[in-house]
Amino acid sequence: MIQSIIKVDAISKRFGGNQAVDRVSIEIPQGSILGLIGPNGSGKTTVLNMLSGELIPDEGSIFLENLEITGKSPSNLVQLGLTRMFQMTKVFVRLSAIDNLLIAGQALGMKRDECLERADSLIKELTLQPVQYLDAGQLSGGQKKLLEFGMCFMVPPKVALLDEPFAAVHPVMRQTMSQFIKDRHQKGQTFLLVSHDMPIIKELCAQSICMNAGRIIAQGKTKDVLDNSEVIEAYLGGDHE
Ligand SMILES: Nc1ncnc2c1ncn2[C@@H]1O[C@H](COP(=O)(O)OP(=O)(O)O)[C@@H](O)[C@H]1O
Ligand SMILES: [Mg+2]
Repeated sequence: MIQSIIKVDAISKRFGGNQAVDRVSIEIPQGSILGLIGPNGSGKTTVLNMLSGELIPDEGSIFLENLEITGKSPSNLVQLGLTRMFQMTKVFVRLSAIDNLLIAGQALGMKRDECLERADSLIKELTLQPVQYLDAGQLSGGQKKLLEFGMCFMVPPKVALLDEPFAAVHPVMRQTMSQFIKDRHQKGQTFLLVSHDMPIIKELCAQSICMNAGRIIAQGKTKDVLDNSEVIEAYLGGDHE
């Protein structure tokens, strides 16, 4: 039995009259890439926001390894090894691509030499050499996302939370990104991956969870989840991307 690195126990979040997340429980097995799918507005990002500390659950609890982390701040959680990538990229647009990596490394307490070496190797791994000295603001959307991957992996987190990393990314960079995730996974990295891209979910995630209207409606082997009639209906019923 593979151990869970994250245990989410019946978390909920309400916005006014809208129950965005309703008693959701999730276990992320150590070393897995767990898929989280569901139509627009089903509560995926809200779950990620609670995991990364941007939002505090109204009820329920979250554990990282055996430590309860419910209500901890995002910066505290990054220090503990829980890193989140945003649907909207958050690079510093007036700094070069490589400087963005260096800043991220410094913020995580890396030594200068180690920081330089690691930034250099990530730039190569993410195929960003041609643009490494350009202001990050000049990079394409996909390149910014690759850069953000790099920033998150200056110090590899215990768990990487990815919210729609492939959305609106050029297919070539999408390939680089999925290769990056696969390579890291091979080295034991744990991911939670929110994506609308079903072929990529199928390719990367052995196990998936599907949410609809704030609740989990199916979980298990990705193929079974995607074939589940309630899942198909949820996608057909709602507005899908
Ligand atoms: N900050 C917020 N304030 C009010 N409502 C929100 C907020 N964030 C999300 N919601 C609502 O919560 C529901 C779930 O949203 P979200 O978690 O973004 O879904 P998904 O990521 O699956 O598309 C939606 O109805 C959305 O409008
Ligand atoms: Mg979302």
